[in-house]
Amino acid sequence: MGIHIKSEKEILLMRDSGKVLSDILSEIEKKIVVGITTFEIEMELRKLLKKNKVKSPFLGYRGYPAVSCISVNEVVVHGIPSDYIIKDGDIVSVDMGVNYRGFITDAARTFLVGNVSKEGIKLVDVTKRSFYEGAKMAVEGNHLYDISFMIQKTVEKEGFSIVRDFVSHGVGRRLHEEPFFQNFGEKGKGPILKYGMCLAVEPMVNQGTYRIKILKDGWTAVTEDGKLSAHYENTVLVGKDTFEILTEKN
Ligand code: MF3
Ligand code: CO
Repeated sequence: MGIHIKSEKEILLMRDSGKVLSDILSEIEKKIVVGITTFEIEMELRKLLKKNKVKSPFLGYRGYPAVSCISVNEVVVHGIPSDYIIKDGDIVSVDMGVNYRGFITDAARTFLVGNVSKEGIKLVDVTKRSFYEGAKMAVEGNHLYDISFMIQKTVEKEGFSIVRDFVSHGVGRRLHEEPFFQNFGEKGKGPILKYGMCLAVEPMVNQGTYRIKILKDGWTAVTEDGKLSAHYENTVLVGKDTFEILTEKN
């Protein structure tokens, strides 16, 4: 119970886990092109997991049927890989986790395919920036909701909206562990951050309304107004004087 603080040994394993995930996501970027189906992307990711000798924490999680979530355009998160064929101008979020020797990291990128609209490019850029502005707060002594506040501020300043129905979360021995926290809120509130906490910071940002709906498959979250949505996520280690992104090359 409570927020798990990773030991030095555990931090080393989280770093190794994050490195594998970061490499897999860089590798898959090359495959996200016009004409490929999201299921084919899933199959490539399965191969990469195997090659790296890591397991998927998504597959079978509450019955989830895949190792990745692939969310295109108006799909916010939890898109199930399918026979959908990627087309020119799509924005494609790939979300996945790895379990390396019992240590889980979780990350997502939104990739641009071909000629994306100006608004689409801006949305993806702001989403990524909101992640960084939030992650920068992941330093010992700050409050947890300082992260939430910075994400919301960055997003809303640009006229976009932050999704309210999904949260960011702790990660490590489990895919989802304490603390769970919204991607919007007030600074100076929430638990005090401590060195050794690992957080999956994951803003989901909509072009229009923040409202979403869940499709009949019970997973796919789409924007209520059919406008675009982007997602960016990394596993972040709370540091003593600075944050450390575990799932991205620095
Ligand atoms: N990054 C997502 C999350 O933390 C992925 C979960 S997908 C699931 O919610 F399949 F594992 F549910
Ligand atoms: Co997550």
